[in-house]
Amino acid sequence: MVSVRALVDADLDAAVALHLEVLHMEFLSRFGPRFMRIYYHAWIVSPGAIALAAVDENSTLLGVLLGAHDPAQHVRAMARDHGVAIGATLVGRALTHPRLAKDLIVTRGWRYTRGVARLVKSRLSKRPAPGPAMSGPVIGEITHVLVDPSSQGRGVGRALVEESVRQARSAGVQELQLVTPPDMAAQHFYERLGWISSGAMQSRSGESFLRYRFTL
Ligand SMILES: CC(C)(COP(=O)(O)OP(=O)(O)OC[C@H]1O[C@@H](n2cnc3c(N)ncnc32)[C@H](O)[C@@H]1OP(=O)(O)O)[C@@H](O)C(=O)NCCC(=O)NCCS
Repeated sequence: MVSVRALVDADLDAAVALHLEVLHMEFLSRFGPRFMRIYYHAWIVSPGAIALAAVDENSTLLGVLLGAHDPAQHVRAMARDHGVAIGATLVGRALTHPRLAKDLIVTRGWRYTRGVARLVKSRLSKRPAPGPAMSGPVIGEITHVLVDPSSQGRGVGRALVEESVRQARSAGVQELQLVTPPDMAAQHFYERLGWISSGAMQSRSGESFLRYRFTL
């Protein structure tokens, strides 16, 4: 039996191990377990975020979902409260992994540098970094969904996505969005759950993704 609850710090070891196993091909995973622990903890405690754990009757972690019912608030809180720890771990890992350092600089260097500059500026002026202007429908997002390979195909992913939809709806979100790599089978999963494809896109780091949206 699967139940879904909030992800908590006690799940960190299992959640990070699962992420590194299931999404080992992701760029983030290349930064290793220490970075992923900080990243997951930041997600758990940041306002605006959705962080869910799917567990079985023995409390074994079967799957994880990360998302946000207020992505702008969530990104601001991550940068403000965890930006230094995240940045320091990124740099530390990059210094000992030259290939990763090169890919980091080529694909994300300029964007991350601007992010750090904004963070420093907002700290110096003691004002929060500006978020994007609010207009149009309230849009939330799902960022990661991952299920233990031995538990896939048993409704765990569906339970996680349905709970994220429930939380987003009760937070006033009108539409959820996500992107998934074109070469992963997840697109069929989202289509099965009623998500609508809204075309292909390229991330600011140059990777190709398929976009999906779900009206609440
Ligand atoms: C994609 C993933 C999250 C799906 O979770 P899951 O627990 O295996 O999926 P569920 O068992 O809840 O499936 C829900 C529905 O989607 C369908 N589905 C799931 N994966 C599918 C696939 N690859 N192709 C077609 N349909 C699929 C199921 O048949 C099911 O339909 P039904 O309820 O009508 O029978 C999981 O397989 C996974 O972790 N994959 C690797 C990581 C990944 O791709 N994450 C998403 C990108 S970040």
